[in-house]
Parts: sequence; structure tokens; C-alpha cells
Amino acid sequence: MVERVSFDNEKLINELQIIFNDVYKQKNELKSEIINNPYTQIYIYKDAEEIKGIIHINVIYNRFEINNIFVLEKYRSFGIASKLMEEIIDLGRKSDIINITLEVKEDNIPAINLYKKYGFLERAKRKGYYNGIDGILMEKVMGSINEKK
Ligand SMILES: CC(C)(COP(=O)(O)OP(=O)(O)OC[C@H]1O[C@@H](n2cnc3c(N)ncnc32)[C@H](O)[C@@H]1OP(=O)(O)O)[C@@H](O)C(=O)NCCC(=O)NCCS
Repeated sequence: MVERVSFDNEKLINELQIIFNDVYKQKNELKSEIINNPYTQIYIYKDAEEIKGIIHINVIYNRFEINNIFVLEKYRSFGIASKLMEEIIDLGRKSDIINITLEVKEDNIPAINLYKKYGFLERAKRKGYYNGIDGILMEKVMGSINEKK
């Protein structure tokens, strides 16, 4: 199941910092993000009491920006990222979000396929943004025919 991480759940935030240290590499990075950035929302995927995936979004007025989505390696390809993505899309629909945007490295095929599965379209490229590899800016327009119901 997917659940939102509350900014005052310090115990859980500390746990997430350890579990997802491949994503949040600096000490207390996640904690500082959640506490200091009022636009941040974090959701986790958990089953059998084990935390397996995380999605980090920024809510900027009527837009969502996906900062990161990450599933622990041993649990990949079991539909966990899809569940996280569906939660965010659903939330976006309920809160009248106009679009969801993100940036992904051009060679990250699993992530690009995931985004395309949920109706994200390529909008622009940032040439060589990641050490010579292009960044692709993608957008999902909510309420459009591209939107997966
Ligand atoms: C990208 C990532 C989040 C996908 O998580 P996941 O739980 O394995 O994804 P799902 O099982 O829900 O798969 C959803 C879709 O993603 C695509 N996908 C997932 N793994 C894939 C792979 N190895 N190769 C190609 N496409 C893949 C498929 O389109 C899949 O849909 P389908 O199952 O209907 O074919 C995961 O690989 C990950 O954590 N990667 C490292 C972090 C990262 O790169 N995040 C993105 C930053 S922009």
C-alpha cells in the first residue's frame, strides 16, 4: 500500500534516509527536504511492513513535479513504481492539477517506459545535462486524451 510520510514522523524519516541512501546521499538530506521545503510531499510503498519504494514530488500551486521515484533493486518489475505513480496521478486528479512534469536521463529506459506508460510525453531536451547524457523533460497533461484513467 501507498502512504504519505508526515513531516513530523521523525522516526520514519530517519528510517527512509537509511533505506534510500542511494537517493538521499547527504546526511539528513531527506529530513531537511521534508522539514524545510513546504512544497515537498513524499509517499512510500510498503507491504508486509517492509518499505520498498518511494516517490518524492513538489507541489507548486496547481502543478506537480516528480523529483524522484525509486524502488529498491530487489523489488523492481513487480509493479511498485506503477502503484506509486497511480497514487500521484489520482491525487493530481482530485486536486485539479493541470500537469505533472519531470526530468529523466535519456539512457534510463525503465524510467522512460514507466513515464510513457502513464501518458507522459517528451517536451524538451537538456543537452548533456548529466555528464554528457541528455536530460529529457517530460510532461503529463492532466485531463487530456493522453491521460490514463
Ligand atoms: C524506474 C523504476 C522506478 C521502475 O520501478 P518498478 O517498480 O520496477 O516499475 P514497475 O514494475 O511498476 O514497471 C512499470 C513500467 O516501467 C517500465 N519498466 C520497468 N522496468 C523496466 C525494465 N527493466 N526495462 C524496461 N522497462 C521497464 C515498463 O513500462 C513497466 O510497465 P509494464 O510492467 O506494464 O511493462 C525502477 O527501475 C528504479 O527504481 N530505478 C532506479 C531509480 C530511477 O532511475 N528512477 C527514475 C529517476 S527519473
